[in-house]
Amino acid sequence: MKKIGWRSPSNIAFVKYWGKGPGQIPCNASISMTLNAAYTDTVIELHEKHRNDIEVSYFFEGKINPDFERKILVYLEQTKDFYPVLREHALTIRSENSFPHSTGIASSASAFGALALGLLSASGYEEGDFNQRASFLARLGSGSACRSIYGGYNLWGKLDGQSNPSDEYAVPLTEIHPDFQQMNDAILIVDDTPKKVSSSAGHHLMKDHWYAKNRFAQADFHAKEMIKILKTGDFQQFSSVIEQEALALHAMMMTSAEAYMLLKPGTIRAIEEVRKLRNEYKLKICFTLDAGPNVHVIYPKDDEKQIVSYLEDHLRSQVKEIIYDSMGNGPKQLMIEDN
Ligand code: DP6
Repeated sequence: MKKIGWRSPSNIAFVKYWGKGPGQIPCNASISMTLNAAYTDTVIELHEKHRNDIEVSYFFEGKINPDFERKILVYLEQTKDFYPVLREHALTIRSENSFPHSTGIASSASAFGALALGLLSASGYEEGDFNQRASFLARLGSGSACRSIYGGYNLWGKLDGQSNPSDEYAVPLTEIHPDFQQMNDAILIVDDTPKKVSSSAGHHLMKDHWYAKNRFAQADFHAKEMIKILKTGDFQQFSSVIEQEALALHAMMMTSAEAYMLLKPGTIRAIEEVRKLRNEYKLKICFTLDAGPNVHVIYPKDDEKQIVSYLEDHLRSQVKEIIYDSMGNGPKQLMIEDN
């Protein structure tokens, strides 16, 4: 039996993707940092095929998961022409996350990253554009997943004046100032109950949003700014852009026609504390938010010792948990076995 395994990390967006067209074509450019400790491992086993249609059994953390299996089947129906392995074999797919689902760490990004990489490998694809193709195919599963194919920082979405970015796949950003080459992300878990509104529903609400046009223009502007900041290493500007992006994302949710709010009182308290630590204690820290109440505190690895001790002293007692993560090097192949 042939077995192929890939590990793909999650990513945290500094400039947010919020609003999309069919096939996860984004309404604006986005930039993310690939994480290290938060990842999905996916192993694909190839078996003999008995039927003509797609034959897949899907296990999440060792158990059959009918919900996930359905979602994956929809994805595979849509992408089957890109994955010849689906015509030739029945597949058993086993996935595991390194992080609990409830923490709100973007699991669809790492899940579709690992799945696209695994299915491409299982299809025998080895060309030079393997990563670009994996990013393209991961996007068709979940938009943010296209930014989980490379380490470091990734840009996704067309942007004036930039030579190669595309709406269809992400590209790594390579000109990075030494101060931004090793960054950490401490995730303050304020609330771990499942969120009420999915990201897909949130993207959809941008369609008739009063602020959509300006929000998309702001994000493209911020993406250009962020590319410059990552080159020049200006932490103050970095904090300004990343925090505006986080709060703009939540402002869109709070002002959409079917308005909703994912922020909790604990989120606001944590944000105020992070800003206090920056302004009063002169720490190099700032925050971002995903589509959820938990606060991602971003800071340079070089200042880790000092900042972790401040976070433990000032924030630990106010939140449920702190998950310490850092910038990662991107996916890795776990195995390719043929017995
Ligand atoms: C707030 O990638 O989860 O995390 O394309 O519908 O799967 P789908 O949405 P998804 O949206 C992520 C939104 C975000 C911002 C970001 O990661 O850029």
